[in-house]
Amino acid sequence: MSFDLVFFGGTGDLTWRKLMPALFQAYRHGKLPAGGRILAVARDDQTSEKYRAWLLEHFHGVEGAKRPSDEEFARFAEQVHYRRMDLSQPEHYALLKDWLGTRSAETVVFYLATSPHLFPQICEQLGAAGLNGPNVRVVLEKPLGHDLASAQEINRVVRSVYTESQAFRIDHYLGKPSVQNLMALRFGNALFEPLWRRESIANIQITLAESLGVGTRGDFYDRTGALRDMIQNHALQLLTMVAMEPPSRNDADAIRDEKLKVLRSLKPFTEESVARDVVRGQYRAGSVEGRGAIGYADEAKVPADSPTETFVAIRTEVQNWRWAGVPFYLRTGKRLATSEAQIVVNFRPAPHSIFPGQNPPNKFVIKLQPEDGLELHLLAAKGTGQRERLSPVFLDLDFDKAFPENRVGAYERLLLEAIAGRLNLFVRSDEQEQAWRWVEPVLDAWRADTSGPRPYASGTWGPAAASALVARDGFAWAEEE
Ligand code: BG6
Repeated sequence: MSFDLVFFGGTGDLTWRKLMPALFQAYRHGKLPAGGRILAVARDDQTSEKYRAWLLEHFHGVEGAKRPSDEEFARFAEQVHYRRMDLSQPEHYALLKDWLGTRSAETVVFYLATSPHLFPQICEQLGAAGLNGPNVRVVLEKPLGHDLASAQEINRVVRSVYTESQAFRIDHYLGKPSVQNLMALRFGNALFEPLWRRESIANIQITLAESLGVGTRGDFYDRTGALRDMIQNHALQLLTMVAMEPPSRNDADAIRDEKLKVLRSLKPFTEESVARDVVRGQYRAGSVEGRGAIGYADEAKVPADSPTETFVAIRTEVQNWRWAGVPFYLRTGKRLATSEAQIVVNFRPAPHSIFPGQNPPNKFVIKLQPEDGLELHLLAAKGTGQRERLSPVFLDLDFDKAFPENRVGAYERLLLEAIAGRLNLFVRSDEQEQAWRWVEPVLDAWRADTSGPRPYASGTWGPAAASALVARDGFAWAEEE
């Protein structure tokens, strides 16, 4: 299948850090369809040769086995081209059209890896240039807006140029292998479904913890904060994958209809429930993984009196028959004790134990980071006779070992899906807007509450109030058990 893939924001961070390396891996794995052209466009005036040399320099920084040899890079880079483009100039879109017209690729993918405030302008100009035919797809990177109104405005413009089925809103967490395996496990096996409900499950915890600080992204982050950066999108998307009803078919709209129903069933916030069920924090100086770390307010491009949250913990519920009364805890933060993303499904304890000692209930852990995998925690007998006790063991469902060819990074998978035109792993506009609708009362309440975020030392698990949030229900975060 021939394709043309155009990266707007071709010299940006995302392009060299994630997108080009992901495409290279797809190429190396033999998954990138042959006959493709990759075009980076940006403001700088430079040739394709210079761009390739610049890219190679960045590829030299890629870790270990993922780094290409110079020959391998040269072969991959034959498909990579560069054009200067001023995104406000209609004639530059006409030139882009000419370039695309030098052959008629079956599929054209426009990847908007620019700042989102440019999305409406780029889409309008692409539409005006007639670059919105049925073979065109547009990929939109997050953050899609900073609140409901701005997200709706972006969606309105995108929809005035493209149909919903041409819009690929990316949430790279949906491309992580464990999320695929969660779907496979839930909907490909009959074993879990009878247990996947309030009668058997005590609570569900979604943790997206990072040990890194905001690094060089201080100005972006300070305008954004953890709720918009990680909860509105990644954490809520994961929640929908865990909580959704089985879709009737494995197609994009059947899946996205079910995800939307979950988002619509989330318990709405009130001013009182924000105060009770949401904890916001901001990191102070401390030590992370043995190294000293400065506080958020001392980071570059962050105002010293910034009220921006770098940590959020939320207790919520999915108000339907399957999940009534089951707490869902969501938590994310920068400069936490470790980098770890996981979903923990805590089952209820056995109703009556015939074994001595404390016997922790079963749990199912979906690990997204640093490694991916699924673990089922069970109890097994240990010792003999009088001294027999139950001891935790876990079934490690290591799909990477069973299917090594599946080891595909999130961006690699999603780029290939966009080229192939499969929307299953992309977010529909109504889902995205519903997620904004749910978080907005939290943003409003925080704006009105001048007490600001709670401080926490870098290298910890956030403010103590986050532990209290879970302890109130008689539970504990996984690392506190
Ligand atoms: C991005 C956020 O969407 O996800 C970043 O903007 C965050 O702040 C990143 O660091 C985390 O992604 P991953 O895949 O490294 O967990």
